Amino acid sequence: MDALLARGHSPFVIDNFCLGSRQNLPSDVPVFEVDIRDSAKLSHVFDEVKPHGVCHQAAQVSVSRSMREPIFDAEVNILGLLNVLEQSARVGAQRVVFASSGGVLYGDVSTPATEDFPKRPISPYGISKWVGEQYLEYYTRERGLQGVALRYSNVYGPRQNPHGEAGVVAIFCKAMLAGEVVTINGDGRYVRDYVYGPDVASANVKALEIPLNQSFDAINIGTGIGIDVNEVAEKLAGLVQLELRNQGSSLQIPHWRHGVPRLGDLRSNLISPIRASHLLGWKPEMSFDEGLRETVSRFGLKSV
Ligand SMILES: NC(=O)c1ccc[n+]([C@@H]2O[C@H](COP(=O)([O-])OP(=O)(O)OC[C@H]3O[C@@H](n4cnc5c(N)ncnc54)[C@H](O)[C@@H]3O)[C@@H](O)[C@H]2O)c1
Repeated sequence: MDALLARGHSPFVIDNFCLGSRQNLPSDVPVFEVDIRDSAKLSHVFDEVKPHGVCHQAAQVSVSRSMREPIFDAEVNILGLLNVLEQSARVGAQRVVFASSGGVLYGDVSTPATEDFPKRPISPYGISKWVGEQYLEYYTRERGLQGVALRYSNVYGPRQNPHGEAGVVAIFCKAMLAGEVVTINGDGRYVRDYVYGPDVASANVKALEIPLNQSFDAINIGTGIGIDVNEVAEKLAGLVQLELRNQGSSLQIPHWRHGVPRLGDLRSNLISPIRASHLLGWKPEMSFDEGLRETVSRFGLKSV
């Protein structure tokens, strides 16, 4: 939202706030509390706002919930997306940017995957993101929309929800600041590509604005740099300890422990940002160390 406002856009928000928080939104941005599965209410909002562009982030975001409740996953991630695409086409929106996922499309890869890597989604969440991209492409062929699927790697940053099952940085950060013991799944040697939230926001704005050579494109948004979960815990522990000291706290954060491995966790997943640089003129601006520092200090402020 901040990135859109900074570029002079007049955004509005549709969210049912099942996961998101109003506090993360600027107070002067119009908000419609609507579930994207509710096509009638969605249609009223689109009639009222008639958006020029749509940035579709709303989703069932948990891989493990998708495995427990594949029908719910499809209702939100496929039927909800279809409602958004139908309304976008109906009111003449020009472009839809869709939050897809490099993490779940490419599977286990130890070198940064490019967009043409084979797609191997193994969870209902991954399947719904892959199907979603294909629906978006269909709407660009048949219904006059332009579409960009942005395949994010692992997004982290100051406003991430620490209460979910995904988002290791936010979960660890909140637990460490509270002096709780962090549990690392398995041996922790699970390599991920961490991209900073505000960098992802700027990729979305570019994907909304930049002239496209073709009506549909899928573009990775990541760093191509791999970091394992043990390293994340190590770096965070140092930063959180420093933050606590700065707050005048004598709390010593306990050492983490290793738990049972999580079923189906990929050993390594990295995505190449090269195409994003060519097509969008985008590259990640924030280093992981600096991004973690920002995240810890913002979570630290909330915990005081
Ligand atoms: N965080 C990551 O690492 C990551 C990686 C790849 C892709 N993505 C995708 O990026 C997007 C944003 O994810 P996030 O991590 O910011 O998660 P998030 O939970 O912060 O955002 C999802 C938003 O969707 C809203 N929402 C959920 N169901 C809804 C419904 N039925 N109707 C209306 N609103 C609904 C939630 O309230 C929340 O505000 C999602 O599409 C997700 O699949 C995220």
